[in-house]
Amino acid sequence: MTDKDHAMSLFSRLSVNTKYNIISSMLLMVLFMALAYSNYRREQSLILKGTVDNARSISRQIIETRDYLSKIETSEPEHNENLIPQVAATRIAQQLTLGSKFYVRQVSLRYRNPDNRPDTFETQQLTIFRDVKAAETWQVTMDKGKKALRYLFPMVSDESCLKCHGSYDAAPEYIKRRFPRGHFSYGYKVGEVIGAVSVSVPMEGLYQQIGANLKRDILYDGLVLLVFILVSGWIIRRTILAPVKTVASSIAAVAHSGNFSERLEQRGEDEIGELISSFNELMEELDRKTVQRVESEDRYRNFIEIAQSPIVTFMSDGKIVISNQKAEKLFGLTKQELLGQSMYDFMEQGEELRRAVDEYFSAGSSDLIGTTTRQKVRDVCGRLFEVEMVISVSQSNQSPMFSAILRAVK
Ligand code: HEC
Repeated sequence: MTDKDHAMSLFSRLSVNTKYNIISSMLLMVLFMALAYSNYRREQSLILKGTVDNARSISRQIIETRDYLSKIETSEPEHNENLIPQVAATRIAQQLTLGSKFYVRQVSLRYRNPDNRPDTFETQQLTIFRDVKAAETWQVTMDKGKKALRYLFPMVSDESCLKCHGSYDAAPEYIKRRFPRGHFSYGYKVGEVIGAVSVSVPMEGLYQQIGANLKRDILYDGLVLLVFILVSGWIIRRTILAPVKTVASSIAAVAHSGNFSERLEQRGEDEIGELISSFNELMEELDRKTVQRVESEDRYRNFIEIAQSPIVTFMSDGKIVISNQKAEKLFGLTKQELLGQSMYDFMEQGEELRRAVDEYFSAGSSDLIGTTTRQKVRDVCGRLFEVEMVISVSQSNQSPMFSAILRAVK
């Protein structure tokens, strides 16, 4: 027996209720897992989309602030470097995102402030912005083993930027002082990408909530599953299993007692109701048949009792089951003594009769049966009597019975 066969036979031995519970809970579990997973994925993509939207609006806000300052400023940054458009816009954005998971920077391939030097990812994206005009870019990356959303929004120079990012000669004195002639941060043209707003958000924190949601979903699903199994198990037990069990044990009881008067209470018109009414019909029929059989047996007994000749009815093994008074008198025994004895023992040629009976079974007929023969029978004292005997077979029951009618020969 292979392991698989073994498992199958174990499974087949389980009760219907357990089988049903196992199968339905497995199906539901798969369903719930699939639902929870698709929910999780949907929430994940929603959160990602929301985060990208947020990063975009932060970037826009920075750019609008910078543009505004760049346009209205004249010589203020000369006295207060905090009013340099880039510096002010970044500070405002940093204030805004303080305490949030958003980390905001401004980067440039030709940076003035070393703090604004792009990292590998930013360099890659800035190169793309420089060479190909793109509106924005974002990507989920692995950064030091941690997932993060990286978002970049390009900054394109306009006329106002060139005051400080155009030619060295046109730049204000304080810019010239800080960034000498030939510094790579000069020489931009209108429409050129100067840099980008770079936003990064660790995903861990973002997914924390949906992780919690998933756990809650699984818990709720588990509870629903449990309630389902309990309720459906109860319904199945009540409506199907219990009535089927009642019918089964009634059949067993009837088989054991032979009492066909047993009836089950009819309930409902469904399949179970049908089963019960079939059982009741069967009992009705068996009951009727039994009454008929008992009646006909009684009639037979009465009939042979009044017959003028000795009659014994015996089974194929010779065992006498019915006898009449005349037969009892012939053998010199009471009915109690006679019943259960072997017919073959009372005959001189008992073995011959036994063979004839066997032959009747194997060949379907025998010359000793159905014809009148002369036989010698022995009474209780061992005295032999010559009789004429005729044997008839009654096949009414499963096992045929043989009736011998004897007539004493003087
Ligand atoms: C008043 C002068 C001035 C104007 C006008 C100006 N910038 Fe700047 N910009 C600077 C200075 C100075 C820095 C370096 C700031 C620092 O030290 O952090 C800078 C930094 C930057 C940076 C960050 C990268 C780096 O070099 O460190 C970007 C990007 C940038 N500017 C883009 C622009 C754009 C686009 C405009 C026009 C809308 C603009 N700037 C207008 C002076 C200016």
